[in-house]
Amino acid sequence: MRVEGRDTKIASDLLVYYDVHARRLPWRALPGANAADPYCVWLSEVMLQQTTVAAVGPYYAKFTARWPTVADLAAADDVDLMAAWAGLGYYARARNLLACARAVVRDHDGRFPDTEDGLRALPGVGAYTAAAVAAIAFGRRAVVVDANVERVVARLFAIDTPLPAARPRIRAEADRITPDARAGDFAQAMMDLGATICTPRNPACGICPLRQDCAGFATADPAAFPVKAVKKARPHRLGHGWWIEREGQVWLVRRPGKGLLGGMRALPSSDWGAAPDPTPPVSAAWITIDQPVAHVFTHFSLALSVHHAHVGRDAMPMDEGEWWPVDRIDEAGLPTLFARAADAVRKDRDARN
Ligand code: ADE
Repeated sequence: MRVEGRDTKIASDLLVYYDVHARRLPWRALPGANAADPYCVWLSEVMLQQTTVAAVGPYYAKFTARWPTVADLAAADDVDLMAAWAGLGYYARARNLLACARAVVRDHDGRFPDTEDGLRALPGVGAYTAAAVAAIAFGRRAVVVDANVERVVARLFAIDTPLPAARPRIRAEADRITPDARAGDFAQAMMDLGATICTPRNPACGICPLRQDCAGFATADPAAFPVKAVKKARPHRLGHGWWIEREGQVWLVRRPGKGLLGGMRALPSSDWGAAPDPTPPVSAAWITIDQPVAHVFTHFSLALSVHHAHVGRDAMPMDEGEWWPVDRIDEAGLPTLFARAADAVRKDRDARN
């Protein structure tokens, strides 16, 4: 992708703004200060993928209190880590987090590589994360493009090619405006701009420090960028989940390591999208909750029909699993879908009593 020479005005306008208005976030160094702790930057960047700053805050605090260094995290138990991640979604990130921490300790003496290429070679570290950590933690010049940056750049240059075809041009323009110095501050300034001013709908152009530099602003309809390709509808699937209760305990399984919600504790459930009436894991007097639990995953939406029953003391479901105290279900680290199913069972029982 050919774009004309470097532009330094956008970065200098933006950094002047960032020096005053940077969001104060727990994983960040102050604008212009020496780089932040690579472990904190890496952890926050992984958590922030597809997740808002507001949702990440409490998880970041919990993780850094419990595992203050990459070595502490590398030594964590898989189950504990998956349970601590529960509710944040996209669980492959948590599995990769552990694999990466362990590789840093095993292969790099507990220190993160300080180049984009070195970082990219770690398990689960993609182009975005490698660039973000290289720039923010190590002060390297790297081109950091997430969804916020993509939107800001598409507007700055009024790029009217629809996504995803526009990505090479967006990246080339982002490269052209990334400064040699303070590339980490620049990247975070672009993200802040995207999150607070150059928002998807109703951008606040009146207070934007880049208004004079923005071809999108000049079109009078900056929100029209980036142009989106028409989305395919998400497929809808049906599934069944079973709450099997025995003497104040509920039967929980662990989902297979790979795949959706892999490695997480869960209620036993059917294949999603399979037979409409699958066989329950034990025979019992099942009660089915009227309203299935609805949940939207990236690639499909799900209606989970939830069944609950009490079973006798010798009942033993076939799959591997564990009996978990019902009154401590909040501590099981269930992913959101199953936490909501547990909640639905409690409400259904309350309504029937
Ligand atoms: N989103 C992803 N990384 C971020 C960061 N470092 N600051 C603010 N928002 C972000």
